[in-house]
Amino acid sequence: MEKFSLITGASRGIGRATAILFAQRGINVAVNYLKSEKEAQDVVEEALKFGVRAIKVRADVSSDTEVRAMFDVIEKEFGALQIVVNNAGLSIHVNPEELDIEEWNRVIGVNLTGAFLVTKYAIPFLKRAGWGRVVNVSSLRAFSGSSKGVHYAAAKAGIIGLTRSFALYLAKFNINVNAVAPGYTRTDMTAGYLKDHEEEVKKKIPVGRVAEPEEVARVIYFLASDDSSYITGEVVTVNGGIYFT
Ligand SMILES: NC(=O)c1ccc[n+]([C@@H]2O[C@H](COP(=O)([O-])OP(=O)(O)OC[C@H]3O[C@@H](n4cnc5c(N)ncnc54)[C@H](OP(=O)(O)O)[C@@H]3O)[C@@H](O)[C@H]2O)c1
Repeated sequence: MEKFSLITGASRGIGRATAILFAQRGINVAVNYLKSEKEAQDVVEEALKFGVRAIKVRADVSSDTEVRAMFDVIEKEFGALQIVVNNAGLSIHVNPEELDIEEWNRVIGVNLTGAFLVTKYAIPFLKRAGWGRVVNVSSLRAFSGSSKGVHYAAAKAGIIGLTRSFALYLAKFNINVNAVAPGYTRTDMTAGYLKDHEEEVKKKIPVGRVAEPEEVARVIYFLASDDSSYITGEVVTVNGGIYFT
């Protein structure tokens, strides 16, 4: 079966690495982005080199209207979809006392509501295909908490409940739903923090280094493949053993 995928937040970081890996492995890719149009176009061009179909689709994943419009584009351009990676994310560091409701809603909106909306509107495509994979990107913060990211940690913990719930609902349709929970990964999201704190962070990680986005992408690929046929509702941590410290 020819495979079609949608990766949200694929213009940069982990999403970008995932889109390129999928293309390398022969999967057609829809590259969702919000602001980074040029970067999204670069990902499309990289993917096309592997002989797959690749399109970019702009949508704010926290907007019901924009997500619906994104699926209209996918229907028109691809006409099928079997794999969804809910990767789009946003992290803002702020003390809880200074966290206003707009910021709370924005972070929950992108990281949690976005995954709900995209999965919801993908279901008809996945059911039609008779085979599907949804991979959600959670975080180490779902388990560890984050003193300056209560909204982010709450959203990423919410992703685990969302994953298990959709997994229960979709199992009978041959659709598996799983999550990855990365630790420190070298992307724009962590660049500022790692610039000043990388040595200190490395000391906390048993493998002694942060992850490259491709190392997370390979786990996402496994969960999106036939090889993960008996895994659903699961969370795979990709954190260099940080829990053992
Ligand atoms: N890096 C880490 O250490 C780490 C650790 C654990 C979990 N994660 C999670 O991994 C995922 C990817 O993170 P990353 O580190 O690769 O981040 P990143 O480099 O900052 O990239 C974030 C991506 O999300 C997209 N995005 C943001 N808001 C969006 C929205 N409203 N609608 C659609 N797309 C949106 C961005 O698109 P535009 O640029 O086009 O706006 C960009 O492509 C996130 O869910 C993050 O929480 C990251």
